[in-house]
Amino acid sequence: MEEKEPKKIIGLMSGTSCDSIDAGLCIVHPDFSCELIKGINYKYPATIREKIFKAFSNELNIKELCQLNFEIGECFGNAANELIKEYGKPDFISSHGQTIYHYPFKETEENLSLTSTLQLGESSVISAKTGCLTISNFREADIAHGGQGAPLVCFADKQWFKNSAIQNIGGISNVTVVSDDCLPFGFDTGCGNIMIDYCMNKLYNMPYDKDGEIGASGTISEYWLNCLLEDEYYYNTPPKTTGREYFSPKYIENILKIAPPEKQDIIATLTALTAKTIAQAYERFVYPNAHINQVIVGGGGAYNKFLMKLLRNYLPKHIELKTHEDFGISNNYKEAMAFALLGYCTYYKIPNNVPSCTGADKSIVMGKITQP
Ligand SMILES: Nc1ncnc2c1ncn2[C@@H]1O[C@H](COP(=O)(O)OP(=O)(O)O)[C@@H](O)[C@H]1O
Ligand SMILES: [Mg+2]
Repeated sequence: MEEKEPKKIIGLMSGTSCDSIDAGLCIVHPDFSCELIKGINYKYPATIREKIFKAFSNELNIKELCQLNFEIGECFGNAANELIKEYGKPDFISSHGQTIYHYPFKETEENLSLTSTLQLGESSVISAKTGCLTISNFREADIAHGGQGAPLVCFADKQWFKNSAIQNIGGISNVTVVSDDCLPFGFDTGCGNIMIDYCMNKLYNMPYDKDGEIGASGTISEYWLNCLLEDEYYYNTPPKTTGREYFSPKYIENILKIAPPEKQDIIATLTALTAKTIAQAYERFVYPNAHINQVIVGGGGAYNKFLMKLLRNYLPKHIELKTHEDFGISNNYKEAMAFALLGYCTYYKIPNNVPSCTGADKSIVMGKITQP
């Protein structure tokens, strides 16, 4: 096997929130450690973001979807170029892409599997715009080998942490559990910021609840919270993943029919829902299987002070609550760093899925390589 060397990699990621393309220039070392040199949040042009949301709600035709793949590719290339302007070309780019649809369910039609996932952001466009070799399309290989294609960040978590629950709170919330007691496992705990953002938009015309200030000014409706906690997703046993397809505008409009009357109470209760579903998921699926000392939060939700305060209250006292920043990793760029590491492995043909997390039949090398 080729002797491994440190590589300079730009990791590109855009999550379900579509708030920005997170681009992180990293150095990944042969021991799988990763340093972030510089991260940027590159905003999508407003019309592209609107188109992505239309795609989520099935309002784009096939021509528009085809075009969107190339438009997003160009945006990802532009994001990488902002870093390249300042720091020069990396050894290669590793791009997660923009998830448009994720269907992890084991269903068949004519004996053919319907399990599938779609990330847009054409890698040939990224590579042409930047002149860099580009690695992309990670999830497909895991699905092709019987997995759910998610969660993938577990691979990085198991290299970087010990005896912890690593909790990402993006649009959706997902956890990786790394413990000496068992193989790593991970699953989506449920909604993250998705419903908070939707309601902030609808009720306040703001994109999100900055620092959790509005939530903190409201009162949690125990009645509504308990109704929301009854959703069957929270009871399903892992491995399980979810997305915008489930916590859809239709879902949210439906639950709003029985919401408390005050706007700030709605935001407070939805924030409590995110915190409570995380705490309950640990009680149901983590503590009985694995000893952990700490919970390490990342993603934009780590900046919501009200959410963090509630999570602290809902977790057992002996568990420490930290953020990635306590480990010198930016909450904003952790996932971009994780995809830089996954790309490093693709480059060196090192298996980079975690079958105990995704349910795949075996360890395989995920990711497709596009030459510049
Ligand atoms: N300062 C903040 N206060 C409260 N919420 C925040 C803050 N910064 C980011 N967020 C939340 O985090 C979300 C983005 O998180 P991110 O980890 O990028 O998610 P995704 O992976 O889904 O894109 C925003 O939509 C917002 O809800
Ligand atoms: Mg984001």
